[in-house]
Amino acid sequence: MAEKKDAISLLAPIREVVKGRMGFRESIFSSCDVKRWIEKDGEVFLMAIGLKEGQKVVDFGSGRGHYTLPAAKLVGEKGKVYAFDRDGDDLEKLKNTVSTMDINNIEIIEAETKVPLDDSCIDVVLCYDVIHYLKDRTLIYDEAHRILKKGGILSLYPKHCKDDFPLMELVDVSREEVIQEVLSAGFYFLSRFKKTLLHDDYYNVGEVFNFQKRQ
Ligand SMILES: C[S@@+](CC[C@H](N)C(=O)[O-])C[C@H]1O[C@@H](n2cnc3c(N)ncnc32)[C@H](O)[C@@H]1O
Repeated sequence: MAEKKDAISLLAPIREVVKGRMGFRESIFSSCDVKRWIEKDGEVFLMAIGLKEGQKVVDFGSGRGHYTLPAAKLVGEKGKVYAFDRDGDDLEKLKNTVSTMDINNIEIIEAETKVPLDDSCIDVVLCYDVIHYLKDRTLIYDEAHRILKKGGILSLYPKHCKDDFPLMELVDVSREEVIQEVLSAGFYFLSRFKKTLLHDDYYNVGEVFNFQKRQ
């Protein structure tokens, strides 16, 4: 099946021009939306999906940290956020951003799929806009299951399913099929949220699913 082009990538050249004109190119905020998200909206979103002060969070596939940063502000000094990604360049950008902010509870981990943390030590795994990269998505579900405490939450944003800009390994997979995959990996279904959230550098309405570790 021919790969369908994501409208977001098609708009990328236009965005580059807009970014340049608006002076964001040199900023840690790559767009107005990112600025608003990091300053306020991201925390409001994460609070709504159930993140709480004091929690330990893994941002699986954190990229430049668009969810890591608001999560770190929300969990506060007693909590901790592990930004986990295989892309060293993105993690370097996150490190630079963190160095300009008053945030001391982020640990950056560069690795692929296997998280170097103990079993059952994490309250929440965020996995946003990541699973389309993997042919075998059970590797992510199993790793999230391993590191989560019993009752811990896997919060999943399966962007690029066949019902939402299909791309890469999710091109023929529906959201409902993704839900079934996660249930088979040892989770209960908890809730779904349809919300405005940040995708890449821009706001978009997306569906996030929360699952709870069964045992
Ligand atoms: C599209 S970005 C999403 C970034 C961030 N979660 C967000 O929503 O803004 C996907 C990220 O997942 C990372 N990733 C994909 N597969 C991974 C794997 N197996 N292990 C670690 N990171 C992975 C990529 O390197 C990339 O930075």
